[in-house]
Amino acid sequence: MVSERSGAKVLVASNRGPVSYTKGDDGTLTAKRGGGGLVSGLSAIGPDAGAVWVCAALGDGDREAARRSGGHLDTADTGGQHVRMLDIPADVFTDAYNGIANSVLWFVHHMLYQTPLEPSFDDAFRAQWASYEAYNAAFADALADEAAPGAVVLVQDYHLTLVPGLLRARRPDLRIGHFSHTPWAPADYFRMLPDDVAEAVLRGMLGGDRAAFLTRRWAEAFAECCAAVLGAEVAHDADGGLSIVHEGRTTRLGVHGLGADAEFLRERAHRPDVDERLAALREQIGGPDRKTIVRVDRTELSKNIVRGLRAYRALLAGHPEWRERVVHIAFAYPSRQDLEVYRAYTDEVGRLAEEINEEYGTPGWQPVVLHVKDDFARSLAAYRIADVALVNPIRDGMNLVAKEVPVISEAGCALVLSREAGAYAELGEDAVCVNPYDVSATARALHEALSMEDGERAERSKRLAAAATALPPDRWFLQQLRALEE
Ligand code: G6P
Repeated sequence: MVSERSGAKVLVASNRGPVSYTKGDDGTLTAKRGGGGLVSGLSAIGPDAGAVWVCAALGDGDREAARRSGGHLDTADTGGQHVRMLDIPADVFTDAYNGIANSVLWFVHHMLYQTPLEPSFDDAFRAQWASYEAYNAAFADALADEAAPGAVVLVQDYHLTLVPGLLRARRPDLRIGHFSHTPWAPADYFRMLPDDVAEAVLRGMLGGDRAAFLTRRWAEAFAECCAAVLGAEVAHDADGGLSIVHEGRTTRLGVHGLGADAEFLRERAHRPDVDERLAALREQIGGPDRKTIVRVDRTELSKNIVRGLRAYRALLAGHPEWRERVVHIAFAYPSRQDLEVYRAYTDEVGRLAEEINEEYGTPGWQPVVLHVKDDFARSLAAYRIADVALVNPIRDGMNLVAKEVPVISEAGCALVLSREAGAYAELGEDAVCVNPYDVSATARALHEALSMEDGERAERSKRLAAAATALPPDRWFLQQLRALEE
């Protein structure tokens, strides 16, 4: 059924929306707008395109804003974007988001389980799974309600795997695509999920006309899972693409390697607030001839920050010539702190950084400069002075930091890059590549990157920046829209 308010021709659905609210003591709500590929993509199609973004209320401020506005946020808060924020009951949301999405599906795709003990799927898991189904159904209802006949819907990520199938059942007229921003697990690992859950996730995504990924590797893993779990047929199209044929329907797989937004970054990185942060960082680094190894991450288990610090310690131990001549600038911003395992990981990062500083620091030299308060301007300042960027995730859908630093670094940076990051497919040739589990090899890679001759480093950095900006967010978004409209 199409309601009176409906009529959007383009719809985006994601758990986290483009704006979040905090509630002050006096009850006032303050809106904060976020960035990222989807925000740039939607602004590229312009305000007249009739686009609606459907997202969930994540905290108390969001809930309040959703209630006060009847779910359709004030466009003054969103920069003109039409946003429908779903006020999903807090317990359902928590089970779906913290329980299934972040503690199960994220763990499966990033292969984070310590398998002798976990996972173990019991009745508590079943209750959470029921919430995940309800949360996905709430999105499908809202999208069905908002979409104009024949509209295009772009569903994002592992939070919403059931939406394409649920939405097709409600609105067979729509063109539906799903995009995964994460890696996709190999079939043997994916099949740890209970059989009916593994099937539901795949069937849900195959309810769409397209399922798209950041690299070919993740699309192939998804196809492998469809064959192994559902017995689906994997068709190789004439253009080299993949399709999944299952129960009389065909879902095309797409690959869209989101790139860095060079234009935005270059402008943003030279505003006064960044200059200010840069001056403060220079002070912390000390001597003007010191080199920098920069990393910027959410404090996320998959980012492998602890092994990165261990590698840096091994570098200082094995190559005393770098002592007092290098500073590791590590920004590790809080993430998913409702989960105990993330809090413990955050503590471990802080403890290790302190230990290295105690072990090697001298009165004029702090070997690790760790910042944990999220500050985008300071991240950009660090990018500008990076000699080496360290990006060593265990597994990562893409990793945009690997793409952003070469664009911004002033003298050109060497990139130490995990071969398990999606970005490896595009940047591997000019990066110093590592197996992220091999701490000794990562220490050697840091030494190689620091020792790289200036000319070579600048040349490589230029090529990295070119590859990193090949598909900027607006074109990444339009590519997907066009593919669905075809
Ligand atoms: C990854 C996911 C996104 C998610 C982001 C931050 O990039 O692909 O969907 O929004 O992490 O995680 P959070 O749980 O804070 O939304």
